[in-house]
Amino acid sequence: MKEYIIRDPWKIIENDFNPAYHEISESLFSIGNGRFGQRANFEEKYSGETLQGSYVAGVYYPDKTRVGWWKNGYPEYFAKVLNSVNWIGIDVELDTIPLDLNTWKVHEFNRTLDMKTGLLSRSFKASNSANTVVKVKSERFCSMADQNIAAIKYSITLEKESAVLNIRPYLDGKVVNKDSNYDEIFWEEQDQNIEERRGYVQTKTKKTGFVVHAAMNCDIAINGSAVEEPTFQYESSMYVGSSVDLNLEEGDTVTVTKYVSVLSSRNYETSQLIEVGYTKVDEAKTKGYDALREAHENHWGHIWSTSDIIIEGDIAAQQGIRFNIFQLNQTYTGDDERLNIGPKGFTGEKYGGSTYWDTEAYCLPFYLATADPHVSKNLLVYRYKHLGKAIENAEKLGFRNGAALYPMVTMNGEECHNEWEITFEEIHRNGAIAFAIYDYVRYTGDRSYLEEYGIEVLVGISRFWAQRFHLSERRQQYVMHGVTGPNEYENNVNNNWYTSRIALWTLEYTMSAINELKEKSPDLFAQKEDKLKFHYYTETNHWKDILSRTYLPEDEELGIFLQQEGYLDKEQLMADEIPNSEVPIWQHWSWDRILRSCFIKQADVLQGIYLLDDLYEDEVVKRNFEYYEPRTVHESSLSPCVHVILAARLNKMEKAYELYLRTSRLDLDDYNNDTEDGLHITSMAGTWMSIVKGFGGMRTVDGKMSFNPKLPEAWDSYSFHVIFRGVTILVHISKQGTQIKNLSDTSVDILIDGQRYSIEPDSMALA
Ligand code: BGC
Repeated sequence: MKEYIIRDPWKIIENDFNPAYHEISESLFSIGNGRFGQRANFEEKYSGETLQGSYVAGVYYPDKTRVGWWKNGYPEYFAKVLNSVNWIGIDVELDTIPLDLNTWKVHEFNRTLDMKTGLLSRSFKASNSANTVVKVKSERFCSMADQNIAAIKYSITLEKESAVLNIRPYLDGKVVNKDSNYDEIFWEEQDQNIEERRGYVQTKTKKTGFVVHAAMNCDIAINGSAVEEPTFQYESSMYVGSSVDLNLEEGDTVTVTKYVSVLSSRNYETSQLIEVGYTKVDEAKTKGYDALREAHENHWGHIWSTSDIIIEGDIAAQQGIRFNIFQLNQTYTGDDERLNIGPKGFTGEKYGGSTYWDTEAYCLPFYLATADPHVSKNLLVYRYKHLGKAIENAEKLGFRNGAALYPMVTMNGEECHNEWEITFEEIHRNGAIAFAIYDYVRYTGDRSYLEEYGIEVLVGISRFWAQRFHLSERRQQYVMHGVTGPNEYENNVNNNWYTSRIALWTLEYTMSAINELKEKSPDLFAQKEDKLKFHYYTETNHWKDILSRTYLPEDEELGIFLQQEGYLDKEQLMADEIPNSEVPIWQHWSWDRILRSCFIKQADVLQGIYLLDDLYEDEVVKRNFEYYEPRTVHESSLSPCVHVILAARLNKMEKAYELYLRTSRLDLDDYNNDTEDGLHITSMAGTWMSIVKGFGGMRTVDGKMSFNPKLPEAWDSYSFHVIFRGVTILVHISKQGTQIKNLSDTSVDILIDGQRYSIEPDSMALA
């Protein structure tokens, strides 16, 4: 755990330059706008350890699979999110010595990410062996107001009698991915051009053929006046730069304003890119840096007005939650149904930037409650569009009759994960996708997605479950063998409670959705029956049989659900018995030792209890929580939040608070020692859930919002907005009680601790 980030309610601040933490900070200070994003790499050269990362949403490369032992059914490739053209670059030389914080002495370093406004800034003083001293200030943003635009303002002031400054803004498309399987360059040259201070670089991915176009138009000024000196143009394969030499005297300040546009063939015809790119940067330059920045800041103001959470009395918790909300909003804006939320968003290469079950199980509730419903609907449409591929995926494994197995990891619907125990066995992901449909309908009350698309997804998934269970002759019960539950520290188990439970739930929900459609819209039902070649009686009878006699492991004596058959035979130890020096165990223990231990990576049985929480009484939740939580090492970022929600329900507020801090400051304090790879974007939605669903106790009950508010002892109060069925409410929970204000123009019925309140527009309920 590291605690070098200065605590502040709205800002992420670093006041010293520590090269050992540089890659962590590159992740933490990342910025993006849903369309593209950027690690906090320096504008000027940096020769120390760095992970260069500039990512464009949806642009990936199918990197040929690398495994030691090939298994039939493995995917041919792993889809990598691509480090693409470096658009931030500004090379600086003083008397021909490159400015490089790895070789210069650094003083007065500050880096700040202002989450309220989405601005990244940096300032420092640096000196070199030739006694040259400079002061540098930079600021940049990826515009939320125009998602094609970014801008940088970079100033350098000389603190020495005189020196020759060479400054060169550039665009560089010759970039690599650190995680490339075969050290391949993923890009090929398409076109580049530079004229004075305006230029572009256009590159194309090999195999997938995505074209990325970055253009720039720069202003260079000295002490506020445009420089007159001639520029020198540099152009080589996938690179353009424009430099100028200036004789500086002490106190002179040179400022480069770099207007950038980043476009891709996903949003524009390739033939238009040059024209659009130039138009965008020219327009940006005409508007000017301050106007662009203001539009960007206003956009953030709007986002915060519905998604902010205010915590009073605990600055660490406040900074943590805002950091999480900020990162989620700059990763996914929900206006493009082809996009999704990669576990690392635009902040690193690991996990390929692809889609996991994280989206449905963790992110959906955040977008449901803080954004317009089309945002979460687009996440569901994304999966509908991949249904055909999910059916093909299941067919490759031997399933038939339209059974669908969604991939564990995907970019375009095809599976690209290649560890057999996950690819073939971690099939519970199908359950989260089905549950998300239910969650959307229950929350929004909108059945249109379900009827138009969702029913097809549900039937595909249910067909898969029906074939994946098999009837054990001996038991005369259905069983599910060879699975991996959410707890990946245990593979290839039989009858994982969570997987079987969510599968049964899916069969039940699919049947009720079908029956409702059959009754209310017989024509539409007939169309679906036809399209899906759905044999209503045969298939639903089989599902009913499975529902009536499936083996779900339980231990009657302990009164708990069993994570899987045989779990109790393991040596039962507690997570707090593991010496600190051996934590996290995935970095210290052999895989063999991990698999044989009883330690649980992330919520497994408890994941099921959390999702299906209205089916279980507090007593059942308590017994299972008290059994499993002490055995859980929370080595997936997705784990603590589920525990916070259940702990808060059980009034275990100390535990809930401890795990809340862990989830909300996971990256800020580098709990899992891996922030340098990128941020845990999808688990950030879990942090939001910890407060709203955990401490706030928010649920949907019979079409109404319901709250069971609790206040962590360390907090004076907290408040959050929730958008529910067109109504925005502001919930404020303090030591004095709960206030819920209706900010909309229609009245709303809500439940607080089970009691019903009808709140008129602009009025408040007090409890
Ligand atoms: C977790 C998975 C998760 C993945 C991506 C893994 O460590 O075990 O549940 O989907 O990370 O976040």
